[in-house]
Amino acid sequence: MIKTISGILFTWLLLSSCSKEDNSVSNNNKNFEIPFFIPADFPALNHAVKSNKPTKYGVELGEKLFHEKRFSGNNTISCASCHNPSLAFSDGKMQAIGIDDRVGLRNTPPLQNLAFMKFYNWDGNILELEKQPLVPIITHEEMNSSILEVISKIRDDSDYKDLFKKAFGDSDITPDRIYKSLVQYEYTLVSANSKYDKVKRNEGDKFTDAEERGYMLFKQKCASCHATELFTDQSFRNIGFPLNKNIEEAGRARVTGVSGDYMAFRVPSLRNAAYTAPYGSFGQFPTLRSVLDYFDNGVLAADNLDPILQANGNRIPLSEQEKEDIISFIHTLSDSTFIRK
Ligand code: HEC
Ligand code: HEC
Repeated sequence: MIKTISGILFTWLLLSSCSKEDNSVSNNNKNFEIPFFIPADFPALNHAVKSNKPTKYGVELGEKLFHEKRFSGNNTISCASCHNPSLAFSDGKMQAIGIDDRVGLRNTPPLQNLAFMKFYNWDGNILELEKQPLVPIITHEEMNSSILEVISKIRDDSDYKDLFKKAFGDSDITPDRIYKSLVQYEYTLVSANSKYDKVKRNEGDKFTDAEERGYMLFKQKCASCHATELFTDQSFRNIGFPLNKNIEEAGRARVTGVSGDYMAFRVPSLRNAAYTAPYGSFGQFPTLRSVLDYFDNGVLAADNLDPILQANGNRIPLSEQEKEDIISFIHTLSDSTFIRK
């Protein structure tokens, strides 16, 4: 916290000292870059972050747009309708439900630590977050609108005019500014304050015996894929989960057209997993326990089944005690300070 405050002051001093000439904007409206908290041992930032660094008013505007229901054709659905802050920005539904209760193809992923990711969505079809917001806006099952329609609805709103001006220098509302500010807000959604993080940082918290046993098992049986401090190595793998029958679904193969990627999905982060049920690319598992039972009972065979599962007879064997312990460990990845955002 002290670091953050001194960071703000520092950035502030820098900005105000370079712009002494500029008397046109009053000081309390002055925009400035906000310090970016990079947790220890996190992977490198996505290269796109440096061309759209979060600023005070960019983030404020992005957060307001994130909750804007006029993004949808009939003014009922905002980004936050599916990405609910109190569920780590997921929605508790099997598959996303959008405008007029239309059901989407996939489960809504949580939004967290996105600045550190290289691939977005279950199949990794997006590499830069600025390219993402238009997709839900125009998708028939999500918001069923268009960016021009959105702009025409908010154009005369004086709060928006004011915020666009503070964030970007003038009150023009453009598609690019909408995407940039939404993404600046998303970049600030960093979750690294769970019990696990506190134990790692030696802040006095200790794992219980069950959590410690779970952590050891996790490192042995899960961390080859749920790797790094993000708890995903961001690879795409077919691990033989029950298949989405929708003919639109092919996993990563939708992006690459390669048969080896058929029904392969990006390894999901397990941070805040306790808040993000149901699980799997179309919510096929109601609980963490049901995922572990499935691994233990045996997964679906496939030519491109991940070698780690093939080497184990298409399963990850787990005793009842081991399942309980792993679940105890996964609960240590819950970051209640993130949920209150
Ligand atoms: C109807 C529900 C719904 C709405 C509305 C919605 N999303 Fe999503 N969002 C999803 C689903 C489902 C996915 C996964 C899509 C996929 O993998 O193909 C997703 C994926 C994402 C991702 C990628 C996350 C990751 O882990 O890779 C981001 C970022 C995101 N949405 C932001 C937004 C923003 C910003 C808006 C508003 C402009 C929005 N979403 C509106 C359901 C929704
Ligand atoms: C070979 C790589 C691999 C291993 C090993 C692995 N996982 Fe996963 N895990 C994945 C992939 C890929 C998915 C997404 C698959 C899908 O939806 O089709 C996934 C999904 C999950 C999900 C659902 C998450 C969500 O948000 O939907 C949970 C929970 C999970 N794994 C826990 C574990 C645990 C616990 C272990 C160890 C016992 C483990 N995994 C071992 C690759 C792996």
